[in-house]
Amino acid sequence: MTAIADVSDRSIDQLLSLAGRTCVITGGARGLGRAIASRLMEAGANALIADLEAATGETAAVELTSQFQGRCLFSRTDVTDTTAVEALANLAVESFGGIDVWVNNAGVFPFRSLDEMDADTWDTVMAVNTRGVMLGAREAARHMTAAGRGGTIINIASTAGFRGVSPGLSAYVASKHAVRGLTRQLALELAPHAIRVLGIAPTYCVTEGNLLAAQEMGGTEVTGAEIAAMVSTPLGRVGVPDDVARAALFCASDMAMFMTGSTLLVDAAETA
Ligand SMILES: NC(=O)c1ccc[n+]([C@@H]2O[C@H](COP(=O)([O-])OP(=O)(O)OC[C@H]3O[C@@H](n4cnc5c(N)ncnc54)[C@H](O)[C@@H]3O)[C@@H](O)[C@H]2O)c1
Repeated sequence: MTAIADVSDRSIDQLLSLAGRTCVITGGARGLGRAIASRLMEAGANALIADLEAATGETAAVELTSQFQGRCLFSRTDVTDTTAVEALANLAVESFGGIDVWVNNAGVFPFRSLDEMDADTWDTVMAVNTRGVMLGAREAARHMTAAGRGGTIINIASTAGFRGVSPGLSAYVASKHAVRGLTRQLALELAPHAIRVLGIAPTYCVTEGNLLAAQEMGGTEVTGAEIAAMVSTPLGRVGVPDDVARAALFCASDMAMFMTGSTLLVDAAETA
């Protein structure tokens, strides 16, 4: 049993710093994942972003490396593929010497009414949004446990892990409830190794994925500004990826040292 460190005597700067740490972010080529990679690197980390989209991911890695002091690498990885996720974790260790933070962010959200739901769509959503989270957490935990210096696993859930949402998202809602459950369970399983497991549940944020989803539903191209004009929240504006990335930095940092098992709502009171 490794007790979590007491960090009471550290300054705010020290607590927020990720200098010398390695972060893996799945689905990091764009959207929330890229914003999370950016904030973690700004705090001093090296990052390995994994995604299916090779061109976007390579570009993101080059841009983030040029922007910050640390290094960002890209790996084309399918988070549903056991061997690929194992290789991703090994690459992080070979490239940067270990894994300190693993963010399970890759996710899909196809719309299908219950009547139109087919087994393939259901299984794909579950494979990416739940199996992918388990595989990522498993590989991260294996390396963190072997290294013996703890770590943090962050699972990007959703307000759809707390309530039902728009019609057509039954697989997504079920998968995000599962992410919340997995976050609780893994926090218990991994606590003896000083590995903290936290979820983040964002409300709607404008991302490339959401713009594509709106386009598919409406049949015409939709811009971020148009979405921003349509989506209102009690806080007066629509969510942006950095709203979630700042919460991810908090969870990843020693600021959250005594937090594990909870899923933080970043929802502008959507579920209040
Ligand atoms: N944007 C929102 O409003 C919102 C709200 C709540 C939760 N979320 C969650 O945040 C996460 C990111 O969402 P986003 O809006 O940034 O989406 P996005 O579609 O813009 O980005 C998701 C990324 O994941 C990648 N990806 C998809 N399947 C993958 C796979 N099998 N292996 C590896 N990479 C894969 C995609 O290529 C893409 O680059 C998802 O888990 C989503 O459910 C998003």
